[in-house]
Amino acid sequence: MSACEPLRIGVSGLGRGFMLLLPTLAAHPGIHLVAAADPRAEARARFEADFGGTGYDDFEALCRNPKVEAVYIASPHGLHREQVECAARHGKHVLVEKPMALSLADCQAMIEAMEAAGCWLLVGHSHSFDTPYLRTAAMIRSGEYGRVRMIHALNYTDFLYRPRRTEELDTTRGGGVVYSQAAHQVDIVRLLGGGEVTRVVAQTGQWDPQRPTEGAYSALLTFANGCFATLTYSGYAHFDTDEFNGWSGELGQQRSPAEYGKARATLQSIGSSEEEARLKNRRAYGSGLGLADTSLAGIGHNHFGLVLASCDAADLRPGPTGIDVYGHTEHRLVPLAQPDIPRREVLDEWIAAVRDNVAPIHSGAWGLATMEVCFALLESARTGQVVDLHYQCPVRPEGA
Ligand SMILES: NC(=O)c1ccc[n+]([C@@H]2O[C@H](COP(=O)([O-])OP(=O)(O)OC[C@H]3O[C@@H](n4cnc5c(N)ncnc54)[C@H](O)[C@@H]3O)[C@@H](O)[C@H]2O)c1
Repeated sequence: MSACEPLRIGVSGLGRGFMLLLPTLAAHPGIHLVAAADPRAEARARFEADFGGTGYDDFEALCRNPKVEAVYIASPHGLHREQVECAARHGKHVLVEKPMALSLADCQAMIEAMEAAGCWLLVGHSHSFDTPYLRTAAMIRSGEYGRVRMIHALNYTDFLYRPRRTEELDTTRGGGVVYSQAAHQVDIVRLLGGGEVTRVVAQTGQWDPQRPTEGAYSALLTFANGCFATLTYSGYAHFDTDEFNGWSGELGQQRSPAEYGKARATLQSIGSSEEEARLKNRRAYGSGLGLADTSLAGIGHNHFGLVLASCDAADLRPGPTGIDVYGHTEHRLVPLAQPDIPRREVLDEWIAAVRDNVAPIHSGAWGLATMEVCFALLESARTGQVVDLHYQCPVRPEGA
């Protein structure tokens, strides 16, 4: 098989997550979308119209399609394990969305199934694939700034007040900001801190009885190399950390501070959880939205709030336009070229693994280690105890 031949992808779950990656999937020359599985007939019909591929209402039927080499699993969290195991049975490579799964046992089973099948497993998209963080990690690894000592990550958004299905507001079913948002933030901090977290202490906040799941957390992480990190997240739709990034949004879009309060105002006009689920569905692929409604024009690098990494010789602050380096005697910006295809990093890493056997940073083992931190965060908040970790892995050395 030619190294340049596009990867033939089947997609599981044509919802909001797919919608966010769709313009990148469509624009990337190394990707060919050939099939999709989703119980929603309108989404399957839209996929067939947009890509000429085949829609399935059953994921295993998609896996039986010999044209599909690799599957992108963007179905709800609770389905990730069974769908990865199914893909493994059919010899397909997998990119599974974050959070990888809702228990360590599920993450382990996914890794074992893929290893037994001899296929690549990657976990993403997470914002640790964003070029500003990958570049900052490379700058730290270069040794030019001495050792990394301390990291702060801070993100304030309207996450909890975006339209949700009921299970997204129920922690026992994978709801709340720890599963959906800490999975990004922990991934970034582990990438910068070397990967191996030894202990976690944390508090979480559930402050709105109408949305009874974690809407906020703060955590202190200690790394094996002595680095420590704080992670703080609030999804309560008040302060917004995009203010610290020149109003460039998480997805690289230009935002306006005049939109203040929009998420809560939209929800106030909704009378029931069914109505809210319908509103969420309107943002999903096939329910009025398709490929023609997406565009990469004017989109810059993605980011995940304010991140600051302190090394011996400088503080490094990755942002959408570059990395600010605050050294002993000078402050300079290491500029980043704007992306040709925003979010392509996740697909580049997947293609390099499948086509060229380049071990990915965001492997199954990496994803499991990130989830171990997320589970520890919840456990520490529940018990008030420091939680020791046992399944951590280092960042893959460059070129491995
Ligand atoms: N990386 C990111 O930035 C990002 C953003 C959004 C969502 N996600 C992840 O994507 C996943 C889906 O979340 P979402 O917000 O898109 O949810 P969603 O509800 O918008 O979409 C889920 C889709 O899966 C479909 N589905 C349900 N059962 C299925 C099955 N058995 N097989 C195939 N498809 C099935 C639904 O019909 C729906 O179209 C989650 O794990 C979420 O964390 C990631």
